[in-house]
Amino acid sequence: MNYAELFCELLAAELNGVITVEDIDRLIEKPKFLNQGDFAFPCFQLAKIMRKSPSEIATGISQHLQAKNNFTFEGFEAVGGYVNAFLNKSIVAVETLREIREKKNRFGDLDKGTGQIVTIDLSSPNIAKPFSMGHLRSTVIGNSLSLIYEKCGFKTVKINHLGDWGTQFGKLITAYKLWGEEDSVKEDPIKELLALYVKFHEAAESNPQLEQVGRDWFRRLENGDAEALKLWKWFKEESLKEFKKVYDLLGSEFDSYAGEAFYNDKMEPMIELLTDKRLLEESDGAMVVNLDDVALPPCLIKKSDGATLYATRDLAAAKYRYDQYAFSKSIYVVGNEQSLHFKQLKAVLAKMDFEWAAGIVHIPFGMMLKEGKKMSTRKGKVVLLEHVLKDSIDLAQKNIEEKNPLLMRKKEAAKVVGTGAIIFHDLKNFRMNDIEFSLEEMLKVEGETGPYVQYTNARAHAILRKSASPVQDLKITMKGSAEWPVISELITFPDIVQKALDKNDPSQIAKYVLDLAQAFNKYYGEVRILEENEEKNARLAMVHAVSIVLEEGLRLLGIKAPKEM
Ligand code: ARG
Repeated sequence: MNYAELFCELLAAELNGVITVEDIDRLIEKPKFLNQGDFAFPCFQLAKIMRKSPSEIATGISQHLQAKNNFTFEGFEAVGGYVNAFLNKSIVAVETLREIREKKNRFGDLDKGTGQIVTIDLSSPNIAKPFSMGHLRSTVIGNSLSLIYEKCGFKTVKINHLGDWGTQFGKLITAYKLWGEEDSVKEDPIKELLALYVKFHEAAESNPQLEQVGRDWFRRLENGDAEALKLWKWFKEESLKEFKKVYDLLGSEFDSYAGEAFYNDKMEPMIELLTDKRLLEESDGAMVVNLDDVALPPCLIKKSDGATLYATRDLAAAKYRYDQYAFSKSIYVVGNEQSLHFKQLKAVLAKMDFEWAAGIVHIPFGMMLKEGKKMSTRKGKVVLLEHVLKDSIDLAQKNIEEKNPLLMRKKEAAKVVGTGAIIFHDLKNFRMNDIEFSLEEMLKVEGETGPYVQYTNARAHAILRKSASPVQDLKITMKGSAEWPVISELITFPDIVQKALDKNDPSQIAKYVLDLAQAFNKYYGEVRILEENEEKNARLAMVHAVSIVLEEGLRLLGIKAPKEM
């Protein structure tokens, strides 16, 4: 049951079209303090429209709703221009615990997306370069979004749009042929390839002819030269092997690895279409689509030497994805610095009269900082993501050894906690915010961290293990005053899932599991859960419900929840 939605329906009936249901839904808040009710509806925006003061409006609405005598709600009151709604605690508590026990991890499922497909472009690192913090953010945010969309009934297609084409491969081949060694590339591919790339640029400074050699090799690659292709393929395989180590640690999987090179033979038809539609213009020898009418700089389609660009590939990719998957939405989880690119992409597709262009959505995000500065991967100063993840796992393992030396399968727990800490730290703030990278911060069990939530869940499981009673057939009766802060969190989960979907915002879920964990830990500190009396069953049912919802919340973030840690 989505009680926020129910309150919204009651208000909508009351307001009878004065504002839209969507607006009502958007305005409904969860009050800071429980004595202000379980939901609050501010009437300030209505004042202008209805030509009454907010408090008059709130009073009118409360009185009407009160008179209608609804069993789910105990009462309504008007305070300071708000309508505060109080749920009927005993009814709602029992109803909610029963619903969670029945639905288990399907509690909060929505059917918003039934029959619809969403493609999600995520991760998309560049071959022969280190997997950057930005790519990590894209992987983690994109993965969580795909889980959220699936919970809401969509089918998702996760696409890793690898950066595996471009003039840099001509340079890399040149450098490899001059200075490279097969064995050292095999041993540490990313480091070695990056070093070759850096060396190329250094050498080209004193020997500009090298640039031409690089261009020549790229041309040979584009023309399908056997040697060039063989090297390119090998660089790609070796890089992918490295990236997959990171994906394994994170538990990320993809439905497609069709990268930029995949679109090599799919750009020409796109360019022909642009020509047919008279959208291509010449500008300094290059071909562009003019976007003056939508106040954007022109989109470069073909360079003067005939080479295609990142944007050309993305145009072909967008159409291919529509043809292949018939998406209703096509999401790109890519850093904020590419916002202009995606605006142009969408604008060009709209100019081509593709209706589906409306479904293109760029989901931008901010940077990962270290001591306030961008974490740099240039000049060979590589922060290897795999090492960062391993460090986090090691640190988690150390914490576990100290706290729970008798735990079985410590390694497994450490992996789940160490990676969970990094994922949670990324997702707990709204994605546009820059985030500061600090392993110590991320792993704190007392802070607003992944391990804190995981630990709370393990604590709930410990209680359930101690109680002999099988939770399945408990009879629940509950007066529910001590329990209410926890129940009140549990009931909002379906609404949180909805918000996370609407705003493409996993932080809604992360903040929610923190709130639920905090409410539960407070309860745990104040109430003797296992004490034998008539409400013990109800308390255990609630502990069980908390563990179900915490695990499901974490799952939606891409984090596992160990039962013991
Ligand atoms: N490889 C690109 C980069 O690292 C990101 C690609 C994002 N996806 C896309 N379809 N453009 O900057």
